[in-house]
Amino acid sequence: MISAEHARADELQRLAEATTGLLKPAEGRSLRNAAARADSSGLGPLLEIGSYLGRSTLFLAAGIVEAGASTVLYSLDHHHGSEEMQAGWPDHDPTLVDATSGKMDSLPRWRRRIEDCGADDVVIGVLGRSEIIAANWTTPLSFVFIDGGHGAEVEWADYRGWSEKIAPGGLLAIHDVFPDPSDGGRPPYECYLDALDSGRFVEATGYAADSLRVLLTTGAGASNAGAESPKSMLATPPATTSAAINTAASE
Ligand SMILES: C[S@@+](CC[C@H](N)C(=O)[O-])C[C@H]1O[C@@H](n2cnc3c(N)ncnc32)[C@H](O)[C@@H]1O
Repeated sequence: MISAEHARADELQRLAEATTGLLKPAEGRSLRNAAARADSSGLGPLLEIGSYLGRSTLFLAAGIVEAGASTVLYSLDHHHGSEEMQAGWPDHDPTLVDATSGKMDSLPRWRRRIEDCGADDVVIGVLGRSEIIAANWTTPLSFVFIDGGHGAEVEWADYRGWSEKIAPGGLLAIHDVFPDPSDGGRPPYECYLDALDSGRFVEATGYAADSLRVLLTTGAGASNAGAESPKSMLATPPATTSAAINTAASE
């Protein structure tokens, strides 16, 4: 017989799949599995960088619920959108522009979605710039999912700032890892390579899906990503910076 936790997790996954966002379904299922492992590990809470409208958030919440919800997910975003979400860029959604400030603001829709889906007992929103929060964060994490800005400076800052917060035995997931440059931008792939080259991480088997990669901490090594890491920001809208936005009719 299916447990109440499993049934609720399946419902959260169904709701995640019906939520607008940038993850492919196979990537979402993999995130759910990795989150379940992290929740069971007892190593600490989970954290994602890049909440947007809650798609990845709900997949991660499904994994936490499935494993018994012994911890929570911190879902971090400044909610003003990445470079490629601003006006004139491929992923811009004009319905997310705040009429008063003229800035993009995805927070109201993210919060409504998490509450409507009944996930607010396992999800805590963290509002602000990732690099500032990372610099002030002290709690060891069982899992970090990096899916924030994909310009070189922001991606490397997220990788450097958050990968060191993962407890030994914890997991690091990176979205938009494209080995072939014609498929998308380089920074997530370069951070993924640095994580492996540094000896701090190995591939966690069974989680790779489309452009999602999940790594396991080894407790050894040091990042090569010092002050010499790439500094170039995205200058023009790229053809593909990330997976295409999945637009949901049922939110
Ligand atoms: C690619 S979207 C996240 C997509 C989401 N994970 C999903 O499943 O649909 C990137 C998000 O990162 C946020 N972001 C970009 N740079 C950031 C930064 N420096 N600090 C906090 N959030 C940031 C943007 O506001 C945007 O909502």
